[in-house]
Amino acid sequence: MLSKNFFRFINNSCNRKYQQIFSCHASTTSKINGSNNEFNTEQKEKIIPKDDLFSFIVQCMMKVGTRPSHAEVLADNLTMADYRGHYSHGLNRLDMYVNDVKTGTTAKDGNPMILKELPGTALVDGQNLIGPYVGKYCMNIAMEKAKKVGIGLVSVRRSNHFGIAGYYSLKAVDKGLIGWAFTNTSPLVVPTRSKAQSLGTNPIAFGAPAENNDSFVLDMATSTVALGKVEISQRRGEEIPNTWGVNAQGIPVTKPQEVQGLLALGGPEESSGYKGYGLAMMVEILCGILSGSHFGPWVRSWKVNTTEANLGQCFIAIDPNAFEDEFGSRLQKLINYCRALPPSESGKPVLIAGDPERVHMAKCEKLGGIPYPQSQIDYINELARTLKVDVPKIQ
Ligand SMILES: NC(=O)c1ccc[n+]([C@@H]2O[C@H](COP(=O)([O-])OP(=O)(O)OC[C@H]3O[C@@H](n4cnc5c(N)ncnc54)[C@H](O)[C@@H]3O)[C@@H](O)[C@H]2O)c1
Repeated sequence: MLSKNFFRFINNSCNRKYQQIFSCHASTTSKINGSNNEFNTEQKEKIIPKDDLFSFIVQCMMKVGTRPSHAEVLADNLTMADYRGHYSHGLNRLDMYVNDVKTGTTAKDGNPMILKELPGTALVDGQNLIGPYVGKYCMNIAMEKAKKVGIGLVSVRRSNHFGIAGYYSLKAVDKGLIGWAFTNTSPLVVPTRSKAQSLGTNPIAFGAPAENNDSFVLDMATSTVALGKVEISQRRGEEIPNTWGVNAQGIPVTKPQEVQGLLALGGPEESSGYKGYGLAMMVEILCGILSGSHFGPWVRSWKVNTTEANLGQCFIAIDPNAFEDEFGSRLQKLINYCRALPPSESGKPVLIAGDPERVHMAKCEKLGGIPYPQSQIDYINELARTLKVDVPKIQ
């Protein structure tokens, strides 16, 4: 079970004590402290029930010819992104998937193919299908192998944008396994000391099950932020911190419209951005180099949909039962210890990775759906009009 402290924290977050931090009203600022997860808007938010969002995404994808079972996995991934508060990779990205299928640069139908296989590994050809469909297929193979031989690693080439990396790690956690997921992406990040975009925001997700449905779920870009967060700031007319991106000369900027390249996690060299750069390279080695897909600067440019993306991805599942018997309780002990640490700032409890998402999901449950600002509702209406599909129920 989640620790008592954490339950109290979630409940309080929607009550008096943390109301200013985790607003549970649909009309006030809703930024989680210490995280960039949410829309931070004074606009009145609108609520879309999760199931209605899911159906809308499926309808949009089917309208451009996507096989329903593929559209459903994508909808599951995008809905989960917004539900968990990762708005940069949910509904916000739907037009990209629609356009990729519409232009024929992502395949509408088919099945991934295993090219090579050993007891603990597989190399897969994603057949240029929708990324989350390919990712789910690969994670399932990795989990089956982990259950049989303790560990499974699946490397895939010819995949597409797979949404939030945490989606796949959570599949492993749900089965009592440790799960990793990685993908390479279009070159947007400037290596430390460079002004040329050469690597993607190459995310890493790592999930580990603790006790009674509690878990540690780290799900992060290896850039300071995902590009979607710069886009959201631009749409809102807000400035960004100077550790997020650089202009064409490689100089850090605070105006989102001036961003020509993203900085690796850590920012400039002075604040150890080379560590993020190193992690992005590590992801590229596991994804692009290992699978035989495009890699680094040779991945197609962001949102260019005239050629196949041919992304590389990597999925790892580990069965903790192959190791220490008390894995779950030992992890829980550490999680509980961290959450109970005295906060350095009053009203800002110590969290573990996955907690900000838990708070956001609790907020959605309380609201009866996922909150969106008017700009996202306008985006939905425009997509619905263009594709001639029904708009989802909006409260
Ligand atoms: N498919 C792609 O090409 C791609 C590329 C980049 C990012 N993404 C996705 O974008 C999403 C957002 O990535 P991000 O890096 O902006 O995430 P983020 O910075 O919002 O959060 C990163 C991690 O930090 C944890 N965290 C946040 N605040 C914390 C705190 N105070 N204490 C402890 N842990 C805390 C979160 O739980 C999360 O696991 C992720 O789901 C990622 O997979 C996808």
